[in-house]
Amino acid sequence: MKILITGANGQVGWELARAAQPLGEVIALDRSGADLADPEGLRRLVRRLRPDVILNAAAYTAVDKAEDDEAAALRINGEAPGVLAQEALALDALLVHYSTDYVFDGTAQRPYVESDPTAPVSVYGRSKLIGEQAIAATGGRWLVFRTSWVYAPRGGNFPRTMLRLACEREALKVVADQFGAPTGARLIADVTTQAVARAADESAQGRFESGIYHLTASGSTSWHGLACAVIEGARKRGWPIKADTIDGIPAEQYPTRARRPFNSRMSTAALVARFGVSLPPWEQGIELLLDDLTERRVVV
Ligand SMILES: NC(=O)c1ccc[n+]([C@@H]2O[C@H](COP(=O)([O-])OP(=O)(O)OC[C@H]3O[C@@H](n4cnc5c(N)ncnc54)[C@H](OP(=O)(O)O)[C@@H]3O)[C@@H](O)[C@H]2O)c1
Repeated sequence: MKILITGANGQVGWELARAAQPLGEVIALDRSGADLADPEGLRRLVRRLRPDVILNAAAYTAVDKAEDDEAAALRINGEAPGVLAQEALALDALLVHYSTDYVFDGTAQRPYVESDPTAPVSVYGRSKLIGEQAIAATGGRWLVFRTSWVYAPRGGNFPRTMLRLACEREALKVVADQFGAPTGARLIADVTTQAVARAADESAQGRFESGIYHLTASGSTSWHGLACAVIEGARKRGWPIKADTIDGIPAEQYPTRARRPFNSRMSTAALVARFGVSLPPWEQGIELLLDDLTERRVVV
């Protein structure tokens, strides 16, 4: 199996480049090798490489910046996934793409299911929804995994930012009225490889069905709950934590350029039922992250 990975320097792309190795020949390209801002170049690349599987981990992920950079966000998150879907269809390849809880407005009082109406409240969310729709409209064999609150030992992410701030400041204020499931890039990559293997079997038996699935760790918390877990775990591991007070605040006291949903919780029941995966509690992923950062003495 020949597997093309885009966004190889990102959190998910980097983990995928490792997790996908047992599946076959992996070609993992960063922005310089596969630029989603150049959809026609991307088309030529896929035609030349002729992969069996495309794992599209590249995306315009700067949520606040996207508010003032809509054209680029739409090209990378909206148009390019459609081009990948067209080329995958022509090759009879499987396209795996990642989307986000930000396709919802976050007003539901329960975890979102895949069939719930979408209503993004940001340019980023809208651009990701357009990408989903472009893939579904093209047809072929595809899977879209909507995930949330992604972190990894590398790259910019909320847990690493909290660790840095907690080592610098005595008091922190963190948003406590937005809820979601912090999800490790490694979990996303591991579930993806299991799904790709399962999809290959299903395709061989002529019973593969394309679809959108929610892929997050189990449970949920607020940004404040996540910050407390990260900082407490780091303190136990001997990190030089200065922060004694971590206050929860409402989102309205922490204005950002882009609006964010209050409820980012998503049900993963459909994913579990179809792919037979087990999704560990979010706290477990955070413990692994802290072990990893502590062992490698990563300076955040
Ligand atoms: N991060 C989250 O909290 C979150 C939440 C929900 C869903 N998701 C989705 O999950 C997927 C993976 O996200 P992630 O967390 O791994 O994001 P990430 O760490 O920001 O990685 C995204 C990668 O895409 C690359 N990229 C940006 N523009 C590109 C372009 N024009 N051509 C090619 N590559 C480009 C970036 O390259 P550079 O390194 O060169 O900038 C970066 O390596 C994305 O689809 C994202 O929308 C993420």
